[in-house]
Amino acid sequence: MISRDTIEEVKSRMDIVDVVSDYVSLKKSGQNYKALSPFSNEKTPSFFVVPSKGIFKDFSSGKGGDSITFLMEHEGMAYLEAIRHLAKKYGVEIREEAMTAEETMAQTERESLFILMNFAKDFFVSKLYETEEGQAIGLSYFRERGFTDATIRKFELGYALNGWDHLQKEMIHQGYNPVLMEKAGLVVKKDDGGSYDRFRGRVIFPVHNISGKVLAFGARILGTDKNQPKYINSPETEIYRKSNVLYGLFQGKNAIRNADNCYLVEGYTDVISLHQAGVENVVASSGTALTDEQVRLIKRYTENVTVLFDGDAAGIKAALRGIDMILRSGLNVRVLLFPDGEDPDSYSRKVGTSEFQQFLKDRVQDFVSFKSNLYATEAGSDPIRKAESIKEIVATISVIPDPVKRSVYIQETAQQLKISEAVLLTELNKILIHDRRKKQQEKLREQPEQPIPAEAIEEPVSTRVDPQSMVFYQERETIRLLLNYADQQLREQNMADFLLQELEDVEFTHDALREIYHHFRNPGGALPTSDFFIRQGSEAVKRMVTELVTNRYDISQHWGDKYKIYIPKEKEVLDQLALTNVIRLKFRVVQKMMDENLLRIRKAESERQYEELDNLLISQEGLKRAERELAGVLGIVVAR
Ligand code: CTP
Ligand code: MN
Repeated sequence: MISRDTIEEVKSRMDIVDVVSDYVSLKKSGQNYKALSPFSNEKTPSFFVVPSKGIFKDFSSGKGGDSITFLMEHEGMAYLEAIRHLAKKYGVEIREEAMTAEETMAQTERESLFILMNFAKDFFVSKLYETEEGQAIGLSYFRERGFTDATIRKFELGYALNGWDHLQKEMIHQGYNPVLMEKAGLVVKKDDGGSYDRFRGRVIFPVHNISGKVLAFGARILGTDKNQPKYINSPETEIYRKSNVLYGLFQGKNAIRNADNCYLVEGYTDVISLHQAGVENVVASSGTALTDEQVRLIKRYTENVTVLFDGDAAGIKAALRGIDMILRSGLNVRVLLFPDGEDPDSYSRKVGTSEFQQFLKDRVQDFVSFKSNLYATEAGSDPIRKAESIKEIVATISVIPDPVKRSVYIQETAQQLKISEAVLLTELNKILIHDRRKKQQEKLREQPEQPIPAEAIEEPVSTRVDPQSMVFYQERETIRLLLNYADQQLREQNMADFLLQELEDVEFTHDALREIYHHFRNPGGALPTSDFFIRQGSEAVKRMVTELVTNRYDISQHWGDKYKIYIPKEKEVLDQLALTNVIRLKFRVVQKMMDENLLRIRKAESERQYEELDNLLISQEGLKRAERELAGVLGIVVAR
């Protein structure tokens, strides 16, 4: 258990700009920073970092919080993992406190799974070197493929002995929990309650996350048994989501950054062979189609991807799929096909390091040449097929988000295919307009849920909405006013005094909001600030406060200028806001009480408790009067 002091020390040192910059390239915007959202694919930046408050806010996904939240959301770290990561980054010494039994139990499952996977990795590595079977079968297999000892160590390759329970037995002996062993995907449970090792008699390729922790294993069969799959892979677990991981990224990330290019290959052995040939800026999608998330991982290190594929039909198909996917996310893509029947692994071994590196340089093509060569051989001199292939190329160009890049590629295509640019542009525009229309229609169909804006909320007039959700809106608005304007002077008193006095007898219903309100009502000294909540609050409080102190239009200062819209500054209308809020909150609370009272009335009626019923009816009358009065002030017509 990390000590409270250590956590405080980490919190006081962490710097949001610094932390986020490790993963996202930020641009300065006034006092703040902005970037394209790392949580979604977008074309205009809606991701903001506010250094003065130590927070980030992503308007496209609604995520927000401090440096710790960022690491949890973006890297999938658990809370304590994030603290450890930051402690390392800022050179804070971690003081551990002995764990109580309860705390041990509470240690997150994710962390336990990491520990189990690390144990299994060490187990497989030791079996490779230290057993006769490992040496004779596993190690000699790797050596036959030309892997050096340094490479085998670098990728932490291992060997799983042939047998049903070598790993399981050892782990139980060491006191590991069998349920977790199954959750980690290391053992498989049988219907009869027994269980066996998932990986047996195979060489092991551990899959690492970007900080080098083992998430999963790929286990390759030795030789060729047609009745067994070539690879047995870890299932998806709490720490392993296949679509979110790239093999080789941990070993290659620095090289990718330095080369400002990332080679993309198909399999484990391709990655390893390229390393052996001195090319370390390489990752593999491990036999599946590339996902959005994987492309985003690459984007942290470079904007340039070169796909290396087999020259056979399957390889070409995979390359084509990959190209559109990569272009769509704004990265630049080049393509390199190997001679038919060769993959990066076999070819690098065949021709040797220097010739291989030369080959990579010489044979790389931009995607326009790649596609046009491909279709040229396919279409021959058939004019219809040729026209189709031109459309194909333009369709690919149309997915590129950046208009400048699009037009460069159109020029390039015009030159390569000897076709007028105007014709290509017409085709491009046709596709773009068609896509845009389709998107609009989809939008209309979906009617996406509008995120609740952090600005004052205009509620629908006269329609009676679910009072509980309206109570929540107004509670939220109260807290927003307190967080942003507590010490602002209104006509007679400051905002905090006014709200606390007016809402003296109101009990907040929402947990996080109530907690925050409580701190304002009982400040042990000066009024609490948003920084206080962001530093000290629970995750829920932190999120709520972040949400309420970042206002899109404040952060993005150019917005008003750009569209020549006058947005009245909230500060100019605080009196009005505070008063409306108080009345609206009371109005909604009264409505909620009426709803609850009505239920009691029905119950009393059906149970024939007439005395009780009389009292309830009287209080309902009182509530109704209050509702009408408040509605009058708000200019709302009450429809009942
Ligand atoms: N793959 C898999 N399961 C299989 C076959 C392939 O998970 N049954 C994945 C593996 O991640 C593999 C990648 O697809 O690395 C590429 O497949 P392949 O080229 O067949 O495997 P290699 O790793 O290149 O193995 P080798 O060079 O020994 O043929
Ligand atoms: Mn292969």
